[in-house]
Amino acid sequence: MKHDQTPTKPIGIFDSGIGGLTVAHALVNHLPKENIIYFGDTAHLPYGDKSTAAIQAYSIKIAHMLLQQQCKLILIACNSASAAAYELVKEYVGSKAHVMNVIDPVVHLLKDKYKHKRIGLIGTRQTVNSHIYKKKIDDANHGITLSSHATNLLASAIEEFGNHEVLDGLLNVYLSHPDLQQIDALVLACTHYPIIKDRILKCYKKPLEIIDSSDAVAAAVKTHLEKHALLNTNGSSNKHFYLSDYTESFAANAKLFFGSEITFESYPLWD
Ligand code: DGL
Repeated sequence: MKHDQTPTKPIGIFDSGIGGLTVAHALVNHLPKENIIYFGDTAHLPYGDKSTAAIQAYSIKIAHMLLQQQCKLILIACNSASAAAYELVKEYVGSKAHVMNVIDPVVHLLKDKYKHKRIGLIGTRQTVNSHIYKKKIDDANHGITLSSHATNLLASAIEEFGNHEVLDGLLNVYLSHPDLQQIDALVLACTHYPIIKDRILKCYKKPLEIIDSSDAVAAAVKTHLEKHALLNTNGSSNKHFYLSDYTESFAANAKLFFGSEITFESYPLWD
């Protein structure tokens, strides 16, 4: 049975931590009147090194919580969870809300604008080992050559340090891989990575196009809401942040994105 969906209901967004804020921020820019509920699963961070089964279990619990909050749309703002749990979350949510991931909008962009290009991709072990980008890109046979590399420690380092110069050493090691040298563009297949986009660019001697999913994802959400008459055109946006474990680093980073007036609520997932 289809649940009552109205434009004023919130959009639920989740990630393991601050990464999804890059997507939430783009969403607020594209859709300034939407109500947003953000869930950062800081207790289980990083997702990238967890098993598929663990990420699926966390994702289902979060989706359940977001449904209780009556979200009209659930956006998995995490590549690792999109790779491991999107199909399962979609099945779990059924017709109660629309579920979106951060991978499909990027794949569409690549198929549209990067035919016959050499594309590098960096992401967590979970995302890279799932080969999900390659499978989706190869399906369409657009002559795209994809070189994917797991940059395991990056998301945790970003959670810990933000956009700090200590990240440069790690980036130089990861990005100096020969497969990531002769490329036309680099996909940031982890929503944490746009936070250090300037540092990533600095590792390359020549200008490189960086594909960051935030805008493509926000545009896809907008298109969906418009198509289904679910766009909120009234009032100002309310934003609510839930954390499975309150951390100072999350609070500080969230304030960088959304200003100091935001508040956080603890929502332990294991209770
Ligand atoms: N931001 C997430 C992603 O896009 C998760 C990073 C992590 O927790 O390992 O994959």
